[in-house]
Amino acid sequence: MAPKELLLSATLLLLLLRAATGNLRHENVIDRCWRGQSNWATDRQRLAMCSVGFAGKMRQNRGHGVTMYTVTDPSDDPVRPRPGTLRYGATVLPGKVWITFQPGTMHIRLAQPLFVKSFTTIDGRGADVHVAGGAGIVLYEVRNVVIHGLHVHGVRAQPPGQVVRPGGAVQNMDVGDGDAIRLLSSSKVWIDHNTLARCEDGLLDVTLGSTDVTVSNNWFHDHDKVMLLGHDDQHVADRRMRVTVAFNRFGPHVNQRMPRIRHGYAHVVNNFYDGWREYAIGGSMGPTVKSQGNLFIASTTDSANVTRRMPLVGHAEGKDWHWHSSGDSFENGAVFKQTGSRVRPKYNRHQAFPAASSGEVRSLTKDAGALRCSAGAAC
Ligand SMILES: *[C@@H]1O[C@H](CO)[C@@H](O)[C@H](O)[C@H]1NC(C)=O
Repeated sequence: MAPKELLLSATLLLLLLRAATGNLRHENVIDRCWRGQSNWATDRQRLAMCSVGFAGKMRQNRGHGVTMYTVTDPSDDPVRPRPGTLRYGATVLPGKVWITFQPGTMHIRLAQPLFVKSFTTIDGRGADVHVAGGAGIVLYEVRNVVIHGLHVHGVRAQPPGQVVRPGGAVQNMDVGDGDAIRLLSSSKVWIDHNTLARCEDGLLDVTLGSTDVTVSNNWFHDHDKVMLLGHDDQHVADRRMRVTVAFNRFGPHVNQRMPRIRHGYAHVVNNFYDGWREYAIGGSMGPTVKSQGNLFIASTTDSANVTRRMPLVGHAEGKDWHWHSSGDSFENGAVFKQTGSRVRPKYNRHQAFPAASSGEVRSLTKDAGALRCSAGAAC
């Protein structure tokens, strides 16, 4: 072969190899949108257009008016946060803010719950960020919030104290509740690629009329009560709550509430359930559940019920609630008890996405949780 031809065939071989390894990166529809980009660190705001499900695209979180802010100081003053801290960027800094962290490992122990403002993105990519051992993250009456790439664990109820709220008012806090992330009356929120474990109360609570939420690519493990959608049987405003739970990994060592839903609608799609003790999906007050393309692996035959209905005492046991399973896979004896009929999520074109088959779920969720990304390379 002439040197030129040799070069040509070598190039061809390289291209073929690249195509082949590209196919090995088996990614879900959200990850495929940004993880292959080697410039993710200089084009962080691309992420905002990668969300799917009820949160829709987070287009309000990006653009020229957004302040890029880097957390360099792990300390926390809940009343007068210093510039450089997470609380300063998430609560105090005005306007639209995109928060990143200096590379390396950072442990942040919040002295009081962190109140996140509207139009705020917390982006842990490129750092190893642990919000741990203190209070958790609270979204109260806010919109357009993204939380991506954090480890949140060991959250505990904190003693009463004062904390600054968005807008600058200082509030007296009672004893907290020990939730990792709690939404109250908040909407258009995307919780993606976080690792949540071992907290005192819940890992993720969506409450008090919150809606239009997507919970994707997270890893929930070693915990009792994982995810609560609607906290009160009496709170009928939660009838309009709509939440997408997609591409998450639940377990090992989880007990219940993946999620537990009251009143609203949950589209639970392409999640990996690696065992549970009491149940995986439960609810009360006539919620609607569309379970699609999930992989449910029961841990034992005694803990095989995927579903649990919690009717009010003296009422029928949820026979008329719409809980539907389509394309789910069940291993180790897992059982999903269906009732009612299938109710579609009615996504618009910014929310809609194709569900994968349950056979792909293991690989689509294998990188669930906070990722290790380095600038200059695909993540
Ligand atoms: C599983 O659910 C069925 C009803 O669908 C119930 O009779 C049974 O007791 C449940 N099993 C456990 C271990 O909770």
